[in-house]
Amino acid sequence: MTAAKAAAEILARAPGVRPRVGIVLGSGLGGVADRVEGATAVPYAELPGFPVPAVEGHAGRLVLGTLSGCPVAVMQGRVHAYEGAGFAALKTAVRALKLAGCEALMLTCAAGSLRREVGPGRLMLITDHINLLGANPLAGPNDDAFGPRFPSLTDAWDPDLRARLKDRAAGLGIPLAEGVYAACLGPSFETPAEVRMLSVLGADAVGMSTVPECIVARHCGLRVAGVAVITNLGVGLSDEPVDHDHTLRNAASAAADLERLLTGFLADHVNGWTAGDEAQP
Ligand code: HPA
Repeated sequence: MTAAKAAAEILARAPGVRPRVGIVLGSGLGGVADRVEGATAVPYAELPGFPVPAVEGHAGRLVLGTLSGCPVAVMQGRVHAYEGAGFAALKTAVRALKLAGCEALMLTCAAGSLRREVGPGRLMLITDHINLLGANPLAGPNDDAFGPRFPSLTDAWDPDLRARLKDRAAGLGIPLAEGVYAACLGPSFETPAEVRMLSVLGADAVGMSTVPECIVARHCGLRVAGVAVITNLGVGLSDEPVDHDHTLRNAASAAADLERLLTGFLADHVNGWTAGDEAQP
């Protein structure tokens, strides 16, 4: 099984690190990987079945080490459905992290905001999602070794992890919006009419990723949290152009907040803090 081979390779490459949290870094958010201590970076090409991303801003390597004392496996670069290569590599990568020991997956991404009051540079905690990719990564034969044929997505975005992230953000003075993330296939950005539709559907932000990883992770029992970095207002909501260069530039300006939030979150994780605890470190 490819995921098992990839997991064995991950553990062999960084023998002292049994990762507890997997982190997926979105477009322009790769800086978190540079803060990993005792880092071993493994190019995806050297991990069986891992994706080889082609998009600028996505490095394509797995960084193993510790962040805030928490053993982590950081995916610097991801696959997108719009690349047209299917979901096999994404499934292998998420399942390999699970088999390597991860209990939770932290997803980050760039997104367009559908709410004018939540503008570029803000962070949005993902509370739920709407899958408009027109596809589900679990379609096809089910691998019973990982999870059930019909997995539930109730509380897909883990309430306890969300509470912890909110608490940390408040403590750090980082404004953290909350909302529903809609995944559209891309690679074209939305039309103004589609942005209006997404608002009517109940979405607060739109992007082209994140949802497939969440679905595969929940299927195999990983807890999932997600933070979207708002890089722009949805097409038609402002005069700013919406293009990949703007996405990368605005992602960079919010990356510092994201890094602080993630490192605080991981310190809580390693200290076993759960929502409602008095003795938060
Ligand atoms: N739409 C889709 N994906 C995105 C956007 C957007 O406006 N911004 C960053 N990723």
